Amino acid sequence: MSTSRTALVTGANQGLGRALIAGLAARMREEDTVLLTGRDPGRVAAAAEEIRRSSDTVARVEARVLDVSRPEPVAALAEELRQRHGGADVVISNAVARLLPDVSQAAQADEFIDVANGGAHAVLRSFAPVLRPGGRLLVVASSLGTLGHLPEQLRPLFDGATLDQVEYTVESWRSAIRSGTSREAGWPVWLNLPSKIAQVAAVRAVAAERRGCDLVDGTLIASVCPGMVDTAASRPWFGDYSAAQSPELAAKAVLDLALADVAVPALYGELVRFGEVLPWYGGTQSTEQEGLLVP
Ligand SMILES: NC(=O)c1ccc[n+]([C@@H]2O[C@H](COP(=O)([O-])OP(=O)(O)OC[C@H]3O[C@@H](n4cnc5c(N)ncnc54)[C@H](OP(=O)(O)O)[C@@H]3O)[C@@H](O)[C@H]2O)c1
Repeated sequence: MSTSRTALVTGANQGLGRALIAGLAARMREEDTVLLTGRDPGRVAAAAEEIRRSSDTVARVEARVLDVSRPEPVAALAEELRQRHGGADVVISNAVARLLPDVSQAAQADEFIDVANGGAHAVLRSFAPVLRPGGRLLVVASSLGTLGHLPEQLRPLFDGATLDQVEYTVESWRSAIRSGTSREAGWPVWLNLPSKIAQVAAVRAVAAERRGCDLVDGTLIASVCPGMVDTAASRPWFGDYSAAQSPELAAKAVLDLALADVAVPALYGELVRFGEVLPWYGGTQSTEQEGLLVP
């Protein structure tokens, strides 16, 4: 089996994903391959070309079209990497559909859920089985992804759930949004909140199944919180940007986790922010995000 390594990031033609690819390309070796993936052929090719031209780039950068809102292409790419490279060493599920403040959350729900949650589920289902020993599979979530952000009656839907159960709950939440009953069921209006909790729950579900084997061979599956990042996606939501990190700075802690020689067992399956675990039961319900919304 090849000793060269392969890394892949979804939604990587701009924002945090692009910075993750640039960092991987700089920190991996010449014989390694870094796959910059995204949904639009032109944007993916242009971003890959820019990174290839950077004097910091060492590894080979390959541009690949990958729309994560459908599981089939994700599964096909995982299978291709299994055949070509014996699997993948670093996989980062990062893609997100942009939310606009002046459009109702309900009108944006389908695409948002398809990309953020469908995408994370597809990556977990297809890439966890092809992760090479010692590999890393990270899902970019957020500090909102802890259970305490949800009303108490909804928490059991995610706590200790299997991946099938998380998917079922996500579809129930989607149906409730469509039928206009999500508020009375207690779902927060702001899509990012249940979505991030579901991403973290999905990672926990897959990690729970694989924990024994993964800890033995130094493989890490985790969700990560990058902190506040100045990107086109987040800009419309915040008045004060003085505390936001550049994508390059935010990428550093994620890449430290992805490329560390040793996977720390205490981080396995957890939501990790700057190298520390954010407790699953932490967080408080807040109406803060609701204030950002159009009615
Ligand atoms: N920014 C923050 O402050 C912050 C904070 C916490 C967590 N995060 C998380 O960090 C991650 C990256 O966010 P960001 O701020 O960098 O967002 P961004 O700048 O909007 O980048 C999102 C990327 O996802 C891609 N994408 C959209 N739909 C896709 C699809 N169907 N298939 C594949 N790729 C798709 C976009 O492609 P196009 O260019 O074609 O649209 C873009 O490349 C997200 O998971 C986000 O929730 C961000």
